[in-house]
Amino acid sequence: MKFLVTGGAGFIGSHVVDALVARGDEVVVIDNLSSGTRDYLPANAIFHHGNVEQPDAWPDASGVDVIVHLAARPSVGESWTNILEAHHDNLSATLCVIRMAMQYAVPRIVTASSAAVYGSIEQLPISEAGAGDPMSPYGFQKLASEAYLKLFAYRGAYSGVNLRFFNVYGERQSATSEYSGVIAKFIAAARNGQPATIYGTGSQTRDFVHVSDIVRAILAASAASVNPGSVLSVNVGTGQQTSLLELLQCLREVTGACLPPNFAAPRAGDIGQSVADTSAAEKLIGFKAQTVLSEGLQKYLRWLEPQEGRSS
Ligand code: UD1
Repeated sequence: MKFLVTGGAGFIGSHVVDALVARGDEVVVIDNLSSGTRDYLPANAIFHHGNVEQPDAWPDASGVDVIVHLAARPSVGESWTNILEAHHDNLSATLCVIRMAMQYAVPRIVTASSAAVYGSIEQLPISEAGAGDPMSPYGFQKLASEAYLKLFAYRGAYSGVNLRFFNVYGERQSATSEYSGVIAKFIAAARNGQPATIYGTGSQTRDFVHVSDIVRAILAASAASVNPGSVLSVNVGTGQQTSLLELLQCLREVTGACLPPNFAAPRAGDIGQSVADTSAAEKLIGFKAQTVLSEGLQKYLRWLEPQEGRSS
């Protein structure tokens, strides 16, 4: 099959491209390298340096079977500060991808959506029906992207799957950005012999999903049976809820570091409890996460080891 992966040089995208190339698929990548790394791409992936929002920079997408749209500014925090850039990269870009799919008659689009579409939900686990009240521009942009995908599906005659990622972590995730996820930050603290900063009490929970499971979800969504003109939205998580204090303990066990907590004021707008209802993903696209947290953390740590002495 032929895939076009936007953001294919990024944290998640590069793992997807590796998996596709390894199974013999043809892969075209479009990435502006704002956060991605050319070095992560296998030699036989065709690379186009450019922005999805600039149609002049689009590669020829003739014969593409699936567009996997991952290019984004995947940060809730940044969506409050760089508001126009976030809007362009998280919402206008989706519209451009839809236009590209219609221009080249691409039959399937798979997008990276987010648990941020839910805002604060009390009913756990969080089911897909709870979307609609996001608490950030980022969450709104992801929800609106989903809506655009649905709106154009009939006219475009494509089918789509929006994957609502929960808290993704793993190899190639940066810990240096101020917007990095909590696992990358705690691991950086453990490796530098520093305390782990916990915003609030540490009793807040998240559903941490390893990047290898995200790849499996994307492959499942690419192949799932969805009628032309229809679009699904499904959660991608593990269904396991982990508090930050439990995460800290798990990291102590896998790193051997003492990793003391340093409690700081809670982040404004931080949600309390989060865990995915995974039943729709299982039923509709045949996806179930496989990697437990301790195993995923070990994989991430093994990847970081050879990079000792280099910023990660
Ligand atoms: C994350 C994603 C976001 C996604 C959302 C879906 C990241 C960076 N953000 O936001 O893209 O849409 O899930 O729900 O992955 N924390 C600390 N110390 C730190 C860093 C974070 O205590 O050094 C806390 C936060 O306050 C929060 C929890 O850890 O309670 C998780 O934070 P974070 O990894 O930034 O992710 P979310 O805010 O859940």
